[in-house]
Amino acid sequence: MIRVAIDGPAGVGKSTTSKELARRFGLAYLDTGAMYRACAWWCMRQGIDLDAEPVNERRITETVGEFFTGGHFDIGVDPDDPKVLADGEDIGAAIRSSEVSTHVSKVSNIIPVRNVLIAAQRAYIAREAAEDSFSGGRGIVAEGRDITTVVAPDAEVRVLLTAREEVRQARRAGQASKGVGGEDVAARDRADSKVTSFMEAADGVTTIDNSDLGFEDTMQLLGSLVEQAV
Ligand code: C5P
Repeated sequence: MIRVAIDGPAGVGKSTTSKELARRFGLAYLDTGAMYRACAWWCMRQGIDLDAEPVNERRITETVGEFFTGGHFDIGVDPDDPKVLADGEDIGAAIRSSEVSTHVSKVSNIIPVRNVLIAAQRAYIAREAAEDSFSGGRGIVAEGRDITTVVAPDAEVRVLLTAREEVRQARRAGQASKGVGGEDVAARDRADSKVTSFMEAADGVTTIDNSDLGFEDTMQLLGSLVEQAV
C-alpha cells in the first residue's frame, strides 16, 4: 500500500497530474478539493447565504455533517471517472462553477467542517489498503491543501506542487474556455492560507515547482518519487 499526498495552491495543475499519476501506477485517486466544493454547493442548495458576514458557521457545520452522515455525499476514486455525487446526482460540473470557486473558502475555513472532511478523507485513504478496494490494496494518490501535513502526514510520498503566481493565474484563465471558472487564484489562496499551509513545504515534503516544466517533465519527477517508495 502506497499513499501519495500532493498539496499545492490553486491553478498549479494538481488534479491533472495527480489523476495521471494514479492511472500510471494503478492507484486510487482522491480529490479532496472536490469534497470541499461539494459541501459549498450543498450549503448553497440548502439556501445558506455564503455572502453573509459573518457566515452562519453553526448552520454550515450542521448542514455539512448531515451531508456526510445522512449518506447524501459520495465520491468515486477511479482516476478515469472520479464522480462526485449528491443524492445520486452528478455534481462534477456544478462544483467547478465560478460561484462555488469564489465561495468555497467560506466553508473550508470552518474548523468543525474540516474535521468532518478530514475524518472522511482518512477513511477513503485507509480503505485502499484492502484487497477488495478500487486499487486492490495498491494505494492512493490524495491531493489538496493539507494532505501532506494533516490528513496523511505519514504518507510514503509527500509532494508540494507549486508554480509562480502569474503562471497559475494564466493556466486558470486558459481553463475558463473549458467551463472551469476563470478566477483570481491569489484571492482564494489568501483565504485558504488562514487555515492550511500549502505555500511552503513542511519537513520531509518534496517541492516540485512546475512553472517552467512541461506536463511530462512533472510526471517523470512524480513517477520517480513513487518508484523510489514502492
Ligand atoms: O483543489 P481545489 O481548488 O478544487 O479546492 C477547492 C477548495 O477546497 C480550496 O480553495 C480550499 O478552500 C478547499 N480545500 C481545503 N483543503 C483541501 C483541499 C481543498 O481547504 N485539502
